[in-house]
Amino acid sequence: MGKIKTKYVCQECGYISLKWMGKCPECNSWQSFVEEFVEKKRSSSEVVKAVSQKPVKLKNIELQIEDRFKTDNIELDRVLGGGIVKGSLVLVGGDPGIGKSTLLIQVASNIGNKGLKVLYVSGEESLKQIKMRADRLSIDNENLYIVSENNLQYISKYIEEINPNLLIIDSIQTVYNPDITSAPGSVSQVREGTATLMKLSKKLGIATFIVGHVTKTGSIAGPKVLEHMVDTVLYFEGEKHNIYRVLRAVKNRFGSTNEIGIFEMTNNGLEQVINPSHLFLAHRPKEASGSVVIAGIEGTRPVLIEIQALISPTSFGNPRRMATGIDYNRVVMLMAVLEKKIGLQLQGQDGYVNVVGGIQLSEPAVDLAIVCAIASSFRNKIIDHQTIIFGEVGLTGEVRAVNYPEKRITEAVKMGFKTCVIPKGNTNGLPAFKDIEIVGVDNVYEALDIVL
Ligand code: TYD
Ligand code: MG
Repeated sequence: MGKIKTKYVCQECGYISLKWMGKCPECNSWQSFVEEFVEKKRSSSEVVKAVSQKPVKLKNIELQIEDRFKTDNIELDRVLGGGIVKGSLVLVGGDPGIGKSTLLIQVASNIGNKGLKVLYVSGEESLKQIKMRADRLSIDNENLYIVSENNLQYISKYIEEINPNLLIIDSIQTVYNPDITSAPGSVSQVREGTATLMKLSKKLGIATFIVGHVTKTGSIAGPKVLEHMVDTVLYFEGEKHNIYRVLRAVKNRFGSTNEIGIFEMTNNGLEQVINPSHLFLAHRPKEASGSVVIAGIEGTRPVLIEIQALISPTSFGNPRRMATGIDYNRVVMLMAVLEKKIGLQLQGQDGYVNVVGGIQLSEPAVDLAIVCAIASSFRNKIIDHQTIIFGEVGLTGEVRAVNYPEKRITEAVKMGFKTCVIPKGNTNGLPAFKDIEIVGVDNVYEALDIVL
């Protein structure tokens, strides 16, 4: 077999070199060369032959319902859009240690229990380590094949031999093709590995999960370089020291994005959190200032989450502002609105705002709750613990309508809340709710008047 040729291509300008270079002589960018295979030139008649499909009329295209199978993990199935699609490639990204391997071995076990074949390729752990984890999780399965391998050529061979229904590659950064001289984890290897696996999985109709570590330094390529190649991208988020994990779809060719799945890391692996509101409100202080509950929407699902604020006099220098779980700039802006429109003297005060449970909230509907929490802490007045608040706040202090008011209120009723402070713009067209009083407000002033 002749030696396979590779070339180095600058990712900024496309300059080609036969050797790796630190700096591109064409566009002067640094560290931009990535190794690629040199494709054998094909004559134009070969190219024309290879393209066998003719354009067809849109109305003549027949739709096939995607062939899906459920993972029996409700949270994961929801994020995937109703189960795994055959022949699809799913990238599962996340920080090291967040629980990717744990989740996937649990899924592998579920699929195996249905009588479907699963091949789990680990490039990170030995067979013994995987066995130990499986024992801990009480996984024992006839249909689960495990191999500890990094070489892409061997992996491809095993896949063809076993022809599983589900393939798991843990992780793509450990897989390498010996024909490429770049180190495992480099952009070239990670891309080449994914491309090979994609061809195989489409050819054989195998559903494939690929694990990609999110990396802090640039020395190994993160999942970002693969996002455009795969069908679905899921990110596993959460703080290491917190037991909650959120699985989020950021791209999904077979379902909606922004859907989330919530898990709890326990001694028995990852457990699904079916009722997140219950969980997030479990340890809530009832008689404390600075605490308020928001009805947020994550994906299509309402979640009730506590927001806490602490305002205390600055001891020296500039006042500090801190935000955990929400956008820092948003908090700074809302504090400015409170100063200017309500006249709260926050200039000499440190302000800390925290979303309880390690969850990230990004929708503007949290604004009104943040404003109320800050005012509550500043005035040291308690907001009734059976009150729920949502609404967007504008720069003039006006409260703007948000989406899905009905879903949010329904969740609040379900969790036993008694009062709901919402934007006046959202009160039109709402159905009648029992057991909850709904108060529409036009601006921040009105809202604070009601809750404090
Ligand atoms: P892991 O799945 O190995 O993370 P990743 O593959 O994303 O790197 O999970 C690692 C962490 O999870 C580790 O710190 C131990 C913890 N863990 C539990 O708390 N309970 C369990 O049942 C398991 C298997 C792991
Ligand atoms: Mg792992």
